[in-house]
Amino acid sequence: MEVVIVPDAEAGGELVATAMAQLLGRKPAALLGVATGSTPLPVYRALAAQVAAGRADVSRARIAQLDEYVGLPPEHPESYRSVLAREVLEPLGLGLEAFMGPDGTATDVQAACEAYDRALAAAGGVDLQLLGIGTDGHIGFNEPCSSLASRTRIKTLTEQTRIDNARFFDGDISQVPHHVITQGIGTILEARHLVLLATGEGKADAVAATVEGPVAAICPASALQLHPHATIVADEAAASKLKLADYFRHTYANKPEWQGI
Ligand code: GLP
Repeated sequence: MEVVIVPDAEAGGELVATAMAQLLGRKPAALLGVATGSTPLPVYRALAAQVAAGRADVSRARIAQLDEYVGLPPEHPESYRSVLAREVLEPLGLGLEAFMGPDGTATDVQAACEAYDRALAAAGGVDLQLLGIGTDGHIGFNEPCSSLASRTRIKTLTEQTRIDNARFFDGDISQVPHHVITQGIGTILEARHLVLLATGEGKADAVAATVEGPVAAICPASALQLHPHATIVADEAAASKLKLADYFRHTYANKPEWQGI
């Protein structure tokens, strides 16, 4: 996989937004897989700025959700559908018709998960999937020891992830659902291009395990090593525990510009 070390979160956002804009230039109705959390926000801001500046055309883009809380009504401000409507769809001027996601309120959750996997395939598959990473190496909500072949399904969150996410629920962990629907690792690996963005020192151990550790379910993001086109974009702090950081800097600095990421 390719590792790109950027000076800070804003530079990472600009780089990934530019990759999305270039993809949309080649394929205007591309299906972009988007993630929640704080890390991807600079990407969404940079892409909206590129649209405003006439450097990106997202008018035909389609957006696919990565994961969702089970039991939160879609209109709940912290359902991931609401978050993505606020952070991605509205700033890009897209409506819900451009959006697809799993139904976190379905009575038959398993059927909803299977339906979402089928819907992604029927939509032609995800062209570029943006991922964040949990401090424990999770991607989407695939917690450690998730099957590397998993499909979209229900998962139970670890206590640490609920603590990490309580900040979105007035700091009150009791409001953070225990259960979620997440695209499986096998589902995520079907996207044509995976871009994992990591910023801040808190992600340094997870990034090192992802890039330089073994492919192992204990670090779900390490499954990206199996993908033919996976890009890890890390700021200096998140890259600070990489043994091969200088090598990654050297290869990126000498990469033909036309190749993009
Ligand atoms: C949640 C999301 C993940 C995200 C992670 C990290 O668990 N389900 O997709 O990568 O949070 O969030 P942050 O970027 O805020 O650290």
